Amino acid sequence: MNRLRSYVHLFVFTAFLPFAPLVYGEEIFHHGGTGDCQGCHTTPPDLLGSDASSTCLRCHQAKIGISPPDQYYVATDPVTSTLCVQLPPGGDFCWLKKNYSWTPSGTRITQRSDGYSHGHNIVALDYGYMPDSVFSMAPGGTYPSASLSCISCHDPHGNYRRLEDGSIATSGPPVVASGSYASSPEPSASGAIGVYRLLAGVGYQPKNAPGAPVFVADPPLAVAPSLYNRAETTSNTRVVYGSGMSEWCQNCHPLFNDAHMHPVGKRASFSHTTINNYNSYIASGNITGSPASSYSSLVPYELGSTDYAQVKMMAKIADSSGPSGTANVMCLSCHRAHASGWDKILRWNMASDFIIYEGMYPGIDNNSPPQFAQGRTAAETRKTFYDRLVNSFARYQKSFCNKCHIKD
Ligand code: HEC
Ligand code: HEC
Ligand code: HEC
Ligand code: HEC
Ligand code: HEC
Ligand code: HEC
Repeated sequence: MNRLRSYVHLFVFTAFLPFAPLVYGEEIFHHGGTGDCQGCHTTPPDLLGSDASSTCLRCHQAKIGISPPDQYYVATDPVTSTLCVQLPPGGDFCWLKKNYSWTPSGTRITQRSDGYSHGHNIVALDYGYMPDSVFSMAPGGTYPSASLSCISCHDPHGNYRRLEDGSIATSGPPVVASGSYASSPEPSASGAIGVYRLLAGVGYQPKNAPGAPVFVADPPLAVAPSLYNRAETTSNTRVVYGSGMSEWCQNCHPLFNDAHMHPVGKRASFSHTTINNYNSYIASGNITGSPASSYSSLVPYELGSTDYAQVKMMAKIADSSGPSGTANVMCLSCHRAHASGWDKILRWNMASDFIIYEGMYPGIDNNSPPQFAQGRTAAETRKTFYDRLVNSFARYQKSFCNKCHIKD
């Protein structure tokens, strides 16, 4: 642990010096595979935390006094900040601790947006994260909520790897690097590369959930930029999703396929109209966009590609180019993977007519009508937009379903 800590500090110190190279700097613990046993175990299999997720949060909940904060934080410590301030693509688990209620103007009926619905309720007793209080199992599946943890989705030992022939396996050449980044190396005969974000694949069932359904789909093909936990005030944090995300979510939500809200995956390829809509739409009433700059990480899509070379190439091009060719809708077009400020882990508030009202992020502290603020402060609403400037949207902004459909 001491050795690890000094690496962590060395990383923090050097990585943020001006012009310091960041390439592979991000790989200081898991290295795309199994990290140092002592980072998680006293003596294997005994964990350092009371449970699996608590063990992860020892490092993955933000520590105070590190500025700028480390990239790999996925939870804000509520003792140090009332706002959920971590902005990774998957979202900040801290939203699970935020309960809101409000009474829409002209009514007397109190509405609620409860914390449990803002994310996947990872059970982490040392950090106050409890099982989901309403769903006993994954909606559209049988995964037990009482066993939901970081290791339900991520293999703690990072065994899933991509081999030279492109296949994904749990054995073979050792994992030599993370596969999550545009800058990640390609596998060779002597070294395999970790799958995206240590996600689990075919045959996986974590040790702490012996009755849980076994995974039938491999991890998705995607790559993230090296700086992925940042405010999107002036530019997108663009994860390039290639393919397989919806199929992967369906490991636990098998009935949430095309019969759910919306078609997804291979069967939800963008038509010519959808491509044009996405590229033209900037905000409600503003459809003057162009393909070179239309991308928004609030409404991501998959390239519809199984080719790493193509996905990595795309990741190196400007962060803002929009869809062309074979893009498709996926679960993460509407949801985040971990948590969000809204019900059902949605990327934006789909339960409101206006997500921006009178040119302001609706808040209980700026006189916005309660049915738009929905119990949040303006600063909280702004965080759900990953700190974008409010004037990058319309004065009266409607749902981003319109990014692909342009209805209102
Ligand atoms: C990132 C954290 C992490 C690291 C690093 C890690 N483990 Fe684990 N390990 C876990 C978790 C979490 C479990 C599941 C324990 C549980 O839920 O009871 C586990 C379970 C185990 C088990 C029980 C059976 C199994 O395979 O699930 C063994 C044995 C084990 N680890 C050995 C090791 C060894 C040896 C190393 C170093 C080479 C290592 N672990 C590194 C987190 C980790
Ligand atoms: C001892 C500290 C430590 C512990 C414990 C720890 N992590 Fe990490 N984790 C890191 C660091 C540092 C990084 C960024 C560097 C890296 O990827 O090695 C990271 C990165 C990650 C990533 C992104 C890796 C990639 O290659 O894309 C995932 C996913 C992750 N951790 C999941 C987990 C899970 C799940 C657990 C618990 C089973 C866990 N971590 C426990 C320190 C830790
Ligand atoms: C329901 C499945 C699921 C659970 C539970 C889960 N993760 Fe993730 N995690 C993902 C997916 C999917 C991504 C990739 C998100 C993306 O690229 O949009 C991810 C991404 C990450 C990353 C990279 C940063 C980011 O947000 O993209 C880290 C670090 C990480 N997870 C750690 C954790 C830790 C620690 C826990 C438990 C506290 C956890 N995850 C629980 C599915 C999960
Ligand atoms: C390892 C199993 C597992 C995987 C993989 C998984 N989920 Fe879930 N999901 C669950 C469980 C269990 C629940 C119910 C408990 C909860 O909400 O915390 C749930 C709940 C949800 C909810 C409802 C949240 C609420 O409380 O209203 C949404 C939305 C969701 N998942 C979306 C996704 C998406 C999108 C993915 C892929 C990125 C995904 N899930 C992957 C197990 C999983
Ligand atoms: C076009 C947007 C969109 C896409 C794509 C999408 N969802 Fe949803 N999802 C929603 C909305 C909106 C809700 C909330 C519906 C409601 O409250 O009635 C929802 C609700 C859910 C719920 C909670 C159900 C419940 O009973 O509360 C789960 C679980 C879920 N989605 C999983 C998924 C998975 C898995 C995928 C990919 C296979 C997916 N979603 C794709 C928009 C979407
Ligand atoms: C990332 C782009 C994207 C987003 C965001 C999106 N859609 Fe779609 N939607 C599509 C595509 C692609 C299709 C398939 C047909 C097509 O190409 O127009 C589709 C089809 C539909 C259909 C026809 C359903 C069917 O079975 O054919 C409806 C209704 C719909 N979307 C509603 C919504 C709603 C409501 C939202 C917001 C919650 C939403 N969409 C968000 C891209 C999107």
